[in-house]
Amino acid sequence: MGSAERVLAAVAPSDPTRTLKALERLRPMFLAHATGGAVYLDDPELLAAYRAFFFPQTFAKVRSVLEEIAWTGASVLDLGAAMGGAAFAAWSASPASRLELVDFSDAALLDGMRLGSVVGASVRTKKQRLDALTFSARYDLVIAANALSELPSIEARIEACRAVVAGALTPGGRFLLIEPADRVHARALQELRDRLLGVGLRPVAPCPHDGPCPASVRPRDFCHQAREVAMPEWFTALQDGVGISDRRMRFSYLVYGGEPRATDALVRVISNPIKDKGRLRFFGCARSGLTELLRQDKHASDANAAFDTLGRGALIRMAAPERVTKVGAETRIEIVRQLDTEEND
Ligand SMILES: C[S@@+](CC[C@H](N)C(=O)[O-])C[C@H]1O[C@@H](n2cnc3c(N)ncnc32)[C@H](O)[C@@H]1O
Repeated sequence: MGSAERVLAAVAPSDPTRTLKALERLRPMFLAHATGGAVYLDDPELLAAYRAFFFPQTFAKVRSVLEEIAWTGASVLDLGAAMGGAAFAAWSASPASRLELVDFSDAALLDGMRLGSVVGASVRTKKQRLDALTFSARYDLVIAANALSELPSIEARIEACRAVVAGALTPGGRFLLIEPADRVHARALQELRDRLLGVGLRPVAPCPHDGPCPASVRPRDFCHQAREVAMPEWFTALQDGVGISDRRMRFSYLVYGGEPRATDALVRVISNPIKDKGRLRFFGCARSGLTELLRQDKHASDANAAFDTLGRGALIRMAAPERVTKVGAETRIEIVRQLDTEEND
């Protein structure tokens, strides 16, 4: 069994019926954004439900981003870790790494220690509040997954991010922020991103530029991912149990650390393919703002063949895009990174 399979096997629910019962209490708290301030994971039923249902999702999402940025390293700090879904994802990508989990729930931290001994990972824990972070070491990776949104204000989130970047990263270290993909969380992360530009923090992913976020201009837009990830059958059975049929992992994210590769010629695809009669379209994010990429079927060519393979999350290089970018037969589209292809949303 590989390290990822070992971690997921260790969080499989011993009593799925009981897990589903506790999820009836836990999921509405998240859906209503009503967890702020409470140490809810000290409740054993909620803790067990979190471990079986949310830990695997965090694990899968963080692994997907770490693959995207080709991360390896030796030390990982997981802020607002619960039992460490994000940290164990980093461990499975780089199994020699030492993990440190920070949270204000004793029960969650104890659970993370127990998981570490089950899978053979080196885990330390520290009980600390996210709004009063101090660091005694630096780390190759710091992750705050679904955690900063539980702080009561954007000022507190900005402060936490500044503290991490100033005092918790090794040279070349990365800071990964993950939040749910719903409009409220994703737009809050966009706002945080834009405010952090103001204090000199520029994300290296997913944004292909360091201008204001184009997805914040129109209230209906929000930047998010929807990635296909293979999950164990017991997990998909829990998804069925709570009525989720969409198997993709949806999240929004930001990565800091390393050199931003911002240029005028990079575009991040932020929509699914939109196939109309006689044409194919996508929405993209570029330094010039939100761009609508549009190719008429009659202009399909070898130069723009990559256009047919794009999906949400793909990063492409092309001549400086405009508000509506017409992809002609001569337009060269180069894929820098392909993430997933999906037909509908
Ligand atoms: C939604 S869970 C996310 C857990 C984990 N990072 C994940 O993505 O699976 C939020 C976590 O942050 C912790 N938390 C919330 N507010 C906190 C605070 N002010 N200080 C420390 N931990 C906090 C909670 O106890 C909980 O474990």
